[in-house]
Amino acid sequence: MSAMDEGHRIVVLASGRGTNLQALIDAAERGDIKGRIVAVISDRKKAFALERAKKHGIDAVYIPPKGKTREEYDRILLKTLERYRPTLIVLAGYMRILTPIVVRAYRNRIMNIHPALLPSFGGKGYYGERVHRAVLEYGCKVSGCTVHFVDEEVDHGPIIVQRCVPVLEGDTPETLAERVLAEEHRALVEAVRLFCEGRLRVEGRIVRIVR
Ligand code: GRF
Repeated sequence: MSAMDEGHRIVVLASGRGTNLQALIDAAERGDIKGRIVAVISDRKKAFALERAKKHGIDAVYIPPKGKTREEYDRILLKTLERYRPTLIVLAGYMRILTPIVVRAYRNRIMNIHPALLPSFGGKGYYGERVHRAVLEYGCKVSGCTVHFVDEEVDHGPIIVQRCVPVLEGDTPETLAERVLAEEHRALVEAVRLFCEGRLRVEGRIVRIVR
């Protein structure tokens, strides 16, 4: 197998429990993704995502944020990323906003998963339970998730995959989150699979899926 055939090198950034990371690990192990996860990087020492990585023999790296500005942090992150030579970086429940230091180094090679149908209920302050609470308070009849490339604005870059779920009578932020999360796992695997097959073409803010 030549170096070109090796497949993609994926680095996942995660701050939390890492169920989206797990969906990617499982898909890669099944052979559904032409690539392998070479490292998981976290800003939280106790992130369960790091444990999931270790369990599957994937490098687990903790970069402590304490006392660092966002730029200082991202310079260290960039150096760490360089070590792993990723062809794709996935933000899967990563709680920090990337600075242009990282975004510019990996333009259209960083994906994020957001638990709403962007451009609604996205941007600064819309994370975790707050997103689902806002969707319910607005009275939406559908919600869903969005996988998009990361640009300099929060939750803004070109959209790769979206999946919908109904909002049901009696939903709480928790029940809605659970329904959305199941679709997140599908959407993220689909987006990474398409990327690794070289089927995503970014034209401005439109992502075309080539056959
Ligand atoms: C997901 O809802 C994702 O959309 C958001 O953070 C959550 C992470 O969940 N960005 P998990 O850590 O992958 O379980």
